[in-house]
Amino acid sequence: MTMNLIDGKEIARQKRSFIAEEVEKLKKEGIIPGLAVILVGNNPASKTYVTNKERTCRELGMHSVLIELDEDVSEQVLLEKVMELNADPDIHGILVQMPLPKHISEIKVIETISPDKDVDGFHPVNIGRMMTGQDAFLPCTPYGVIEMLDFINADISGKHVVVVGRSNIVGKPAGQLFLNKNATVTYCHSKSTDLMQYTRQADILVAAVGKVNLITKDHVKEGAIVIDVGMNRNNEGKLCGDVDFDNVKEVASYITPVPGGVGPMTITMLMFNTLKAAKSIRNK
Ligand code: GUN
Repeated sequence: MTMNLIDGKEIARQKRSFIAEEVEKLKKEGIIPGLAVILVGNNPASKTYVTNKERTCRELGMHSVLIELDEDVSEQVLLEKVMELNADPDIHGILVQMPLPKHISEIKVIETISPDKDVDGFHPVNIGRMMTGQDAFLPCTPYGVIEMLDFINADISGKHVVVVGRSNIVGKPAGQLFLNKNATVTYCHSKSTDLMQYTRQADILVAAVGKVNLITKDHVKEGAIVIDVGMNRNNEGKLCGDVDFDNVKEVASYITPVPGGVGPMTITMLMFNTLKAAKSIRNK
């Protein structure tokens, strides 16, 4: 099998260059796309993600605001901050970095973000719109996965897509986006018995669990497309996905690496959603 690498970095670079051009056009109309990111506490991983989001905003000519709140901030203060941003005309997208401290209800926070500024695509209104095939903000990671497949002109309609993982952020919406594109979708998760029985049937296999080497060569049908959404550290502290890349690449027709696969697409789609939010104010 000739394996082709899906180069997320390159696809993200091309998409970002398109976004930067669109931002320039909007600026000529007097609109500067603005993203507000709220970070609660000092989780180092969250801090890194948030810093990357800010940097990418600047690189693409967007306005970015970072609001840092103490770990022990009350839920009420956070909700009021979100409501303030909902009313701020310079802010088109709002992202509250997850996870939040235990004393704050994530769902309450998500439901307080205006669906029109919900660039994460986490609000139930956007999830409902996505499920019914209406225009919506799509969650950035699954959206990035679909973009990568579009880039390689992958056939999705009628194909069997197996999604391993059922998180609200990745697995569930990924399956829905594939269904919207007329795929036959199977979800596998921690309670699935005999995972291999399902994954071996996949034309497109999406691994989004968070377990090093969960998907081996034996899980993959010859010629399948394998998308690795995992972000793990192995025993040597090296960043790796859920897929045993070196062996699976022998059987896959296409495969995404980690790092340099889905990762760069997630922030790119966040920027795309912020651009979309900014454009939509023209119609108001
Ligand atoms: N934490 C990990 N991934 C994400 C994401 O995509 N959005 C938000 N808001 N928090 C996250």
